[in-house]
Amino acid sequence: MYHKKLKPFPKEFLWGASTSAYQVEGAWDEDGKGLSVMDMGKHPEGVTDFKVTSDHYHRYKEDIALLAEMGFKVYRFSIAWTRIFPEGTGEINQKGVDFYNNLINELIKYNIEPVVTMYHFDLPYALHLKGGWRNRETIDAFENYAKALFELFGDRIKYWLTISEQNMMVLHGSAIGLVNSNSQNPEKELYQQNHHMLLAQAKAMKLCHAMCPDAKIGPAPNISAIYPASSKPEDIIAASNWSSIRNWLYLDMAVFGRYNSVAWSYFEEKGYAPTVEDGDMEILASAKPDFIAFNYYSTATVAASNNDDSDRSATGDQQIVVGEAGVYRGASNPNLEKTEFGWEIDPIGFRNTLRELNERYNLPLLVTENGLGAFDKLEEGDVINDDYRIDFLRKHIEQAQLAITDGVKLMGYCPWSAIDLVSTHQGFAKRYGFVYVDRDEFDLKDLRRIRKKSFYWYKNVISTNGEDLK
Ligand code: BG6
Repeated sequence: MYHKKLKPFPKEFLWGASTSAYQVEGAWDEDGKGLSVMDMGKHPEGVTDFKVTSDHYHRYKEDIALLAEMGFKVYRFSIAWTRIFPEGTGEINQKGVDFYNNLINELIKYNIEPVVTMYHFDLPYALHLKGGWRNRETIDAFENYAKALFELFGDRIKYWLTISEQNMMVLHGSAIGLVNSNSQNPEKELYQQNHHMLLAQAKAMKLCHAMCPDAKIGPAPNISAIYPASSKPEDIIAASNWSSIRNWLYLDMAVFGRYNSVAWSYFEEKGYAPTVEDGDMEILASAKPDFIAFNYYSTATVAASNNDDSDRSATGDQQIVVGEAGVYRGASNPNLEKTEFGWEIDPIGFRNTLRELNERYNLPLLVTENGLGAFDKLEEGDVINDDYRIDFLRKHIEQAQLAITDGVKLMGYCPWSAIDLVSTHQGFAKRYGFVYVDRDEFDLKDLRRIRKKSFYWYKNVISTNGEDLK
């Protein structure tokens, strides 16, 4: 739809950007922090680990001053569960609490509203050893952790996110470290873990409403519109299958408290259905989010399945469709360009995704990730000319404004990432930030912070409330 006049971004629009604890903080074993599954994970050859990352743990003041200089209204970061409870449960680690108190207070000093993710992939390793999300005790551990967060920080936090990209943890279990390698039926196990995470999320949402009545809480999955590869009805069914399995399974539960019916029939067909105990569905139905946060990088295109193993490609990451026999097969979209890392670039798909979410759930939306991973180059005179990133973000912000004009209730936009950090599996070379962190994959150099060209551009976008995107 063409609009004669675009609606402006709302006055209180939450401009900011995001990070996650294990990707940005470093200090992996300092001040009593326990180990997480991310600390213990394997790293592909040539890719750095998560020990030092951007050293934000020691440099948060300098980093927050830079975010303030850009004019951030919000900053989305995650709390490392293992800094608060090194073993996942038990005694609180006061030094971890001190760190987040300092971080939150520093943000508030600059009038930056903290948006807190409670759990971003980094399950405490001690819980993992006891079965992780397979073990229902992890639900209690998460509830206990959530309670501690609300008690410790609830006086200053208005926006909480429960679990970051639960759908990607399940769909790419081995990449995130959730799969038990001895499992006979890893998918069934993953969907059992998923069921437990959904319960943990529901409990955290209820607790938040009881303990912090002025705060708002929501889930934070990775959502993308799914295109059929052609107008063939079979392709359209395949796209609907993948959308139910990838997107709606998670959000139908968070919002409506029920399993998506196509996803459930897929579980039954494949033998993946989780065991649901008495009382589970009541808990799931009793919790409601106040808004939906979601991460968007790209859309996906799928074709009808051949109903054999050729449907499944050998590789794929959180944005590259893998496919599954009898359900859908991945296709590429000839209308879209790709990033250097093979992710399709689809700003109009962003508007589509926003509209689909709005129509389906009718809740306020907060974009908690969107961005371009690239090999940035530090040039003479401390210059980083990341025009490609500006172009990517500009096109997405334009589409966000169109979606607002379409009637979408968009609360804010927090691209990935505020500063450079370590990618989930492609190291430091894949950079996303507005601020360059001077280190290489293995040479930590001086970790100096340098403003990229996109830093100045985003600063102007925020100061004009999205009116000037040049
Ligand atoms: C999301 C994650 O999947 O995408 C982030 O929430 C991640 O943790 C981001 O860094 C970009 O992905 P990647 O694999 O390029 O780091």
